[in-house]
Parts: sequence; structure tokens; C-alpha cells
Amino acid sequence: MRGRDFVAFSILAVQSLVFVPRGVGAEGAASNPSPASWESSVAAAQPVVGLEARPDSGRARYAVCAECHLANGLGDPGGTMPKLAGQHRSVLIKQMLDIRSGRRSNPLMLPYVRSLPDEQAVADVAAYLAALPPVGGNGRGPGEDLLRGRQLYQRHCASCHGAGGEGDAAAFTPAIRGQHYRYVVRQLIDIAGARRGNAHPGMVAAIESFSARDVASVADFVSRLRDEDDRE
Ligand code: HEC
Ligand code: HEC
Repeated sequence: MRGRDFVAFSILAVQSLVFVPRGVGAEGAASNPSPASWESSVAAAQPVVGLEARPDSGRARYAVCAECHLANGLGDPGGTMPKLAGQHRSVLIKQMLDIRSGRRSNPLMLPYVRSLPDEQAVADVAAYLAALPPVGGNGRGPGEDLLRGRQLYQRHCASCHGAGGEGDAAAFTPAIRGQHYRYVVRQLIDIAGARRGNAHPGMVAAIESFSARDVASVADFVSRLRDEDDRE
């Protein structure tokens, strides 16, 4: 990683460590995404999902991304970088387009995703990443509150993300099984507090009354769900 990027990387890592949730969502949120903004970002992603999937072209495009996301797309167990390998192509496309357009806040990554020349390049990188195996040790939580995590997951998450955390490609719902614990915690806090920018309004409603303990336990549970190919 180049020096300049490492500075930004460190700042981000520190920010994600020092923010302590107190009743997630209690922070003065700017605004949460409306159903209309969800519909419009899906409408922007849908035609790109329909483009030809060319993983070989995507591999070359991914070189600039690997500096942060690593060549294997597995991110880091500390959760600064999410696991991208094996994520649904549709989800990867929507997230890249949302970040590119500023709907999802990610100033660190913005210049890189904007350097992709066109929508075909976005579709190609997504096809490459979706085909990478999502295997290997991911960051997990402390493992002390998993019963609560399971109950919360079944009640508030499984209807959208699936019983095994496999997500739903057609509904642009991410696979979250085996995702790094700290990344999941950060997304839940950012989504509840309207800091991520994009989100599904139904998910915001599902988590807005979550306590810090709820967030930690459900994220820990999610981090321990496994992809069927992930035997470690
Ligand atoms: C300078 C570091 C950096 C570079 C380079 C970078 N990213 Fe990222 N990317 C991040 C960070 C950090 C996040 C997570 C942000 C957060 O916590 O919300 C992220 C998130 C993502 C996500 C969303 C993942 C999810 O699960 O929602 C996708 C997709 C992604 N990056 C793809 C790419 C692609 C493709 C490239 C190359 C064109 C790229 N990134 C280059 C730092 C980077
Ligand atoms: C109403 C459906 C719905 C519910 C309920 C829901 N989610 Fe989500 N979730 C989504 C969708 C759709 C996205 C992608 C949002 C986007 O594109 O901006 C998402 C995004 C996420 C992300 C970010 C993934 C990434 O790769 O960045 C995490 C983590 C997550 N959800 C975890 C959960 C957990 C844990 C619960 C239960 C406490 C939950 N969700 C409840 C639909 C839902």
C-alpha cells in the first residue's frame, strides 16, 4: 500500500474503532434513505446487471482495487476492508454505482471506482469478484452472546438475508455469511445512523431500536455463518 493511502487507511481504521454506539440510531442522523431513493438506485443498477459478464476483463481492472481489497478479495479480519469475494454480482454492481454517484459515502475509494471508464468495466469487475471463492478465516466477535445473536438474526434479518446469510441476488441483498465481524458492526451502526448513505429502508426499520449489545451479538452470529464451500 502506498504511503498516502496508508494514512487514509489508518484514519479510517481509527474512526471505526473510536466510535462507540450508544443506542444505535440515537445519533442525530441527517436522513435515512427513502423507499424512492432505494428504487432509484436499483433502477440505476438493473441495466448494468444485464450487461455481459466478462470476468477476464474484470481481473485486469481489479488490479487498482487489490491495493486495498487484496488480490484474493477477502479483505482483512480487522474489518476495515470487507470481504468481496463471492458476493453477488448484482450487489457488487449496485454498491460500486452507489459509491461512484455518492449515494453511498466512501471518500477513500471514490477516485478508484471513478477511474473505471464505463458501466461495462463496473460489470466486469463485479463478475470477477463474484467468482472468487469466499473462503478463509474472517474476523469474528467474542463468541459470548451467540444465542441472543441467533434469535435477533432469525427475527430481524433472515427474512431478507436468508436463513444462512446467503443474501438474494435478484433483490440486491448482500450475502453476509462469513463477513468480518467489525465490518458488519460498522455497517449496522452506519446504516442505523444514516452515515452510510444507501441502505434498504426495511433494514433501517429493523435495526433502529437495536442496542449496542444487540448489534454486537447479531454481528458475531453473522460472522460465524459459513458459505457452503468454506471449509477452512
Ligand atoms: C483506498 C482503498 C480502497 C480502494 C483502492 C478500493 N476500495 Fe473498495 N472499499 C474500501 C473500503 C474502506 C470499503 C468499505 C467502506 C465502508 O466501511 O463502508 C470499500 C467497499 C467496497 C465495496 C462495498 C462492499 C460491500 O460489501 O458493500 C465494493 C463493492 C468495493 N469496495 C469495490 C472496490 C473496487 C471494485 C475497487 C477498484 C475499482 C475498490 N473497491 C477500490 C476501500 C477501497
Ligand atoms: C427488509 C430487508 C432487510 C432486513 C430486514 C435486513 N437487511 Fe441488511 N440489507 C438489506 C439490503 C437490501 C442491503 C443492501 C443495501 C444497499 O444496497 O444499500 C442490506 C445491507 C446489509 C449489510 C451491509 C452489507 C455489506 O456488504 O456492506 C449488513 C451487514 C446487513 N445488511 C446486515 C443485516 C442484519 C444483521 C440484519 C438484521 C439485524 C439486517 N441486515 C436486516 C436488506 C435487509
